[in-house]
Amino acid sequence: MKSKLQSHTKLFQEYYQISSNIFDRLPRTRVDLDYFVFDESVSRMQHKMRKGDFVPREIHGELEECCKLGTLFVSRKDRCVYMQYISHQLDLVLMDDNLLEKEITDIFISAFNQRLESFFEQPLRSNLDLLREDIAVLVEYLLEDPVHIKALVRRISYEHTLVTHSISVMILGLLLYMRRRNHVCTRQDLQELAEGLLLHDLGMTKIPGFVLGKQGPLQHMEMESVRQHPLIGLQMLKKLGVDSHLTLHCVLDHHERLNGTGYPRSLYGDQIGQPARIAAVADSFAAMTSKRHHSDAKRVDDSAHNLARDLARYDEKISKSLLCFLLTGQ
Ligand SMILES: [Fe+2]
Ligand SMILES: [Fe+2]
Repeated sequence: MKSKLQSHTKLFQEYYQISSNIFDRLPRTRVDLDYFVFDESVSRMQHKMRKGDFVPREIHGELEECCKLGTLFVSRKDRCVYMQYISHQLDLVLMDDNLLEKEITDIFISAFNQRLESFFEQPLRSNLDLLREDIAVLVEYLLEDPVHIKALVRRISYEHTLVTHSISVMILGLLLYMRRRNHVCTRQDLQELAEGLLLHDLGMTKIPGFVLGKQGPLQHMEMESVRQHPLIGLQMLKKLGVDSHLTLHCVLDHHERLNGTGYPRSLYGDQIGQPARIAAVADSFAAMTSKRHHSDAKRVDDSAHNLARDLARYDEKISKSLLCFLLTGQ
């Protein structure tokens, strides 16, 4: 009995069970994954359909039945195709009980990479709506269990592109916000904050590539044009009909600093609200820890320590909360 159970466990590590909710959304007439059916009498996975096979109606009914019985599987070797599929319809993530936490976080990150790239290329209302749908799924996932944010932080990328940087800032900022609120957050606040964090550098998409890609220090005029990006981002979002104060505040004020040395408005102390203070810490930490044209990546712990010591510019409670999380995982 024990060995049968062990062999089942091994099998289930190699295959994903397809939930009925997911099955309903997979292609009906032609499969793009190999399907397996678990045959309990011989404790084996039997190959049922191969990639590219057409599915006659009666076979589709049979597969549907297997799915209800919990005996329809795909191989984990096909995880990329399966996850890619889910990442295009991100709400599936919340319906699949068979995915591991780290697989779910990979799907979220892959989905945001695709969506954000499309939005940065074409900042249209239709692309913003798709991005918002994915954010809504992420928010549901975080409300389901606030611990999920920790798994996302563990998967952030330290590679520096506008897209990866923006995703890192969103994840870190959400972590910091949830910690500040003792994990008591409203759906709407998380949604609007996530949108502001993810799009905080939207204005950068309008800065010429030769300025952003320049090796070495920028000329005064080039620096001035880069410093316009919070205002440009704000205007772009307003044109798209975004009116959330929380979202717009993140975008406009993420480079403001407590001692008044920030930009574009040179705000001082209490003039800077909580969301922008969170965005500032998340943004600076994400920038320091990734390799950019003009500087090497700094160590994660050194960067967090530096921010926590910089009391003149960063909110102490927020930067120390980040440091505490990174040192203790709590
Ligand atoms: Fe920025
Ligand atoms: Fe940034």
